[in-house]
Amino acid sequence: MYFSVMSKINRLRNKRLYLVLVFVIIMCYFMMDSCMDEIGMGWVTNLKVTKESEKIKCYDLKVENVIQNLESSEVAINRSIFFVETSCHNEEFSINPRQACAIESAAKMNPNFEVYLLIPSPVTSLEGMKAYFQKLASYPNFKIRYINMTTFFVKTPLEHWYQSGNLKYSYWPQSHASDILRYTLLWKFGGIYMDLDVVIMRSLEQVTNFAGAESLNDVAAGIMSFSHNHKISSLTMNDLVNNFRGYDWGWNGPGVITRSLRKYCGDCKMWKLRMTLIVLPQY
Ligand SMILES: *[C@@H]1O[C@H](CO)[C@@H](O)[C@H](O)[C@H]1NC(C)=O
Ligand SMILES: *[C@@H]1O[C@H](CO)[C@@H](O)[C@H](O)[C@H]1NC(C)=O
Repeated sequence: MYFSVMSKINRLRNKRLYLVLVFVIIMCYFMMDSCMDEIGMGWVTNLKVTKESEKIKCYDLKVENVIQNLESSEVAINRSIFFVETSCHNEEFSINPRQACAIESAAKMNPNFEVYLLIPSPVTSLEGMKAYFQKLASYPNFKIRYINMTTFFVKTPLEHWYQSGNLKYSYWPQSHASDILRYTLLWKFGGIYMDLDVVIMRSLEQVTNFAGAESLNDVAAGIMSFSHNHKISSLTMNDLVNNFRGYDWGWNGPGVITRSLRKYCGDCKMWKLRMTLIVLPQY
């Protein structure tokens, strides 16, 4: 008797808990997507095209493009430095002085490498960056190129993933575009990827296979170098295809390299990571 009353109470309690949980999830779903993320159910809202995906509509614009297409055949394997600028610019494309300085430092310090500024939205005019462009164009190894997102991922592990519109599920589509581009560029060509705020003080021509440290346990994705066909590259591609999370800002950038490195050398800590890749700074 006692037990049956208790189990009834428990059942009722469970039922109530269950109802509360369902209620919270429903509220979360309608109120805030980030709330779903908080309760570990971000994947539920990750199944729909976000309103933020408007921010990458420019990638599909059919307008006249004044910059050359990036041809795979022109890229020097293992000897290229990639910068990527994934924002949409309504009229004119422009970069700021710091970004120009980052590109210039890369071109100047690595004369035997090609330095690419890659842009996935069509550029109708370069007038806006004329002052910097003239300076940068004086470096024979500087190249500005358009990346056509429709064709860029063809014959890469991300081909189907991109064509299925997964990037449009992102809440930070421009930032995640930059993430998928950097990993795919390194997979395709090997070389060095750098954020547009990385200024190079010395040549990187003799250094391969490294990434910057974010902290003792995490690796950053702001500067990375993989040689062509390095195992790490395929691990990063696999991670993106299988684990992309449009609702998590850092998951697809630093998260990808951190997880891939862990996989590469077992579930190792940074001191071990440093044995397989040079992870700067060295503590
Ligand atoms: C990108 O490539 C696709 C497929 O070849 C083409 O239809 C589209 O016009 C290209 N976009 C631009 C802006 O060139
Ligand atoms: C790129 O670097 C890797 C690793 O050093 C090497 O195996 C590969 O042959 C290089 N590729 C080219 C085209 O230089």
